[in-house]
Amino acid sequence: MSRPSDSALGVTGMNPDQPSAARVYDALLGGSANFEVDRLLAQRMLLAEPQAARFAQANRGFLRRAVGALLDEGVDQFVDLGSGLPTVGNVHEVVHDADPQGRIVYVDVDPVAVAYGRQLLAGEERATVVQADIRDVDAILSDPATGRLIDFDRPVGILAVAVLHFIAEDPAGILDRFRAAVVAGSRLVVSHLTTPAQMSREVVGVVQRYNTSTTTPLTFRSRDQVVDLFTGWELVPPGVVSVDQWRPEPTDVEESADLGPVPIWAGLGRLSPPV
Ligand SMILES: C[S@@+](CC[C@H](N)C(=O)[O-])C[C@H]1O[C@@H](n2cnc3c(N)ncnc32)[C@H](O)[C@@H]1O
Repeated sequence: MSRPSDSALGVTGMNPDQPSAARVYDALLGGSANFEVDRLLAQRMLLAEPQAARFAQANRGFLRRAVGALLDEGVDQFVDLGSGLPTVGNVHEVVHDADPQGRIVYVDVDPVAVAYGRQLLAGEERATVVQADIRDVDAILSDPATGRLIDFDRPVGILAVAVLHFIAEDPAGILDRFRAAVVAGSRLVVSHLTTPAQMSREVVGVVQRYNTSTTTPLTFRSRDQVVDLFTGWELVPPGVVSVDQWRPEPTDVEESADLGPVPIWAGLGRLSPPV
């Protein structure tokens, strides 16, 4: 996708001197919607952990496979929390390849991610971007764009992929609110950065430095804590595992052979009818 300058997009509210999660992640994925400060941090991450770009790609692969699994099971509407900058294999592209009638509401707090998303989706009737903090669940649910695209009387896929580690306090409270808003048969997809014990000291150091320089600091969580995020949802096989081990395709297995686990947990939950 060609990307005009941010001023051409009329992006307000961004700070090009402060790294943003959306832009650093974009830089790791090889995108161009990022600033010097983001690229420097991405480079520092790659110096500390040469596989950081592979980890970001593995997370995208999980997102794609999880959305594919939901489509196979008949879920055709999605709320993508912390959707990030548009990149290869966007959720609406995966959905519309399988089902052109599928609906997607992207949600992100980052003004650059929202501006690029809106530009990409111009003229697209079945996908939109809501600018909101995912902690403001009411704002997301009551946004007219959400109401126009999502039918809350039918199952919804709630995607919280690589976003809850930016929520220091009570991420489960956010998920509870979304669980209360959707019907049985809805799904919850989560990926989440693991704990320092599973990372090199260098990576932990880079993350700690990032945390002092950004408005979206990272919080590590253990596998048990990520399992707890599925309280109220029925975790489906293979449960909470590394993103690369979540229903990998044969090519994923080949590509990641001998490279070691990816330090990001992943899982999919299904909302059962009340008993
Ligand atoms: C690492 S990116 C993940 C993008 C995409 N979900 C994926 O997995 O490829 C995290 C995104 O979450 C967004 N984010 C962080 N905290 C947020 C919050 N409180 N509310 C909404 N979005 C948030 C960031 O702006 C960023 O775009």
